[in-house]
Amino acid sequence: MKPNSKILIIAGSDSSGGAGIQADIKTVTALGCYAMTAITAVTSQNTTGIKSIVGINPKEIFNQIVFSCKDIRPDAIKIGMLHSSDVIKMVIKALDFIKVKKIVLDPVMVAKGGAQLIDGKAIQLLKLNLIKKVSLITPNIPEAEILTKTKIITREDMIYAAYKLIGLGAKNVLIKGGHLKHKNVVDILINTKDIKIFKSKRYKTKNTHGTGCTLSSAVTTFISCGKTVKKSCELGVKYVNSAIKSNPKYGKGHGPINHLTSLKINRKFK
Ligand SMILES: Nc1ncnc2c1ncn2[C@@H]1O[C@H](COP(=O)(O)OP(=O)(O)OP(=O)(O)O)[C@@H](O)[C@H]1O
Ligand SMILES: [Mg+2]
Repeated sequence: MKPNSKILIIAGSDSSGGAGIQADIKTVTALGCYAMTAITAVTSQNTTGIKSIVGINPKEIFNQIVFSCKDIRPDAIKIGMLHSSDVIKMVIKALDFIKVKKIVLDPVMVAKGGAQLIDGKAIQLLKLNLIKKVSLITPNIPEAEILTKTKIITREDMIYAAYKLIGLGAKNVLIKGGHLKHKNVVDILINTKDIKIFKSKRYKTKNTHGTGCTLSSAVTTFISCGKTVKKSCELGVKYVNSAIKSNPKYGKGHGPINHLTSLKINRKFK
């Protein structure tokens, strides 16, 4: 089998393999595509927490993006954690240089435990300059709250915040509902023309490490293969749901999900 498309992932490394660039590569590969990477930071972590984070020099991030893409042109790009305003500026510069159109931004800002990962200056830059350059952004509830300065408790609040993000120049917004504690989990896709609610079964498990990274990578993969943003979100949500259901129960804390779930249910993702 040959890869169906090529994807560049710009994100941080998670040594435990459940989230970050490791989850992204596994997702892209498990869904039949080719992954390239630009690593923004190296974290030492396991399922119980983060021990340390070392940022990669912004110039080196620029080099990874531009040099890799000069040789192998990606069909789509997924962007994950960008930890400082200097990194965001460099990534914008590199994106302007390589001119790839299909870009998904997972605006990672808050760790699972609730800690804010990026400073106010970086948040402003992301809001004012990066959001409008991408095809889709995929904030979780705390990230959408920070970006829109609103409180999100209900589904209506999610929709209100998503429209605020459209007002800031976002083309498509997928607000992830994993953090709301309702019986079903609801993710909502909004653009200027349409609103689509994806309702899935919520599993009672602590093994949800990397669900956000996996979802945005899966959606990017489907978009890279030519599917619409709506169809790609639908398939991405299904993939993550199935990966949570079949999680391998590794580690003492928040364990990883099962990226290989696609091999069993490949037909569903057609
Ligand atoms: N317990 C659960 N059962 C089923 N689906 C879930 C559960 N938790 C999260 N999801 C799904 O996982 C995806 C990611 O949502 P979530 O809100 O957890 O993102 P996130 O907070 O960015 O994740 P991460 O903490 O990995 O960054 C969404 O499609 C959401 O519906
Ligand atoms: Mg996330």
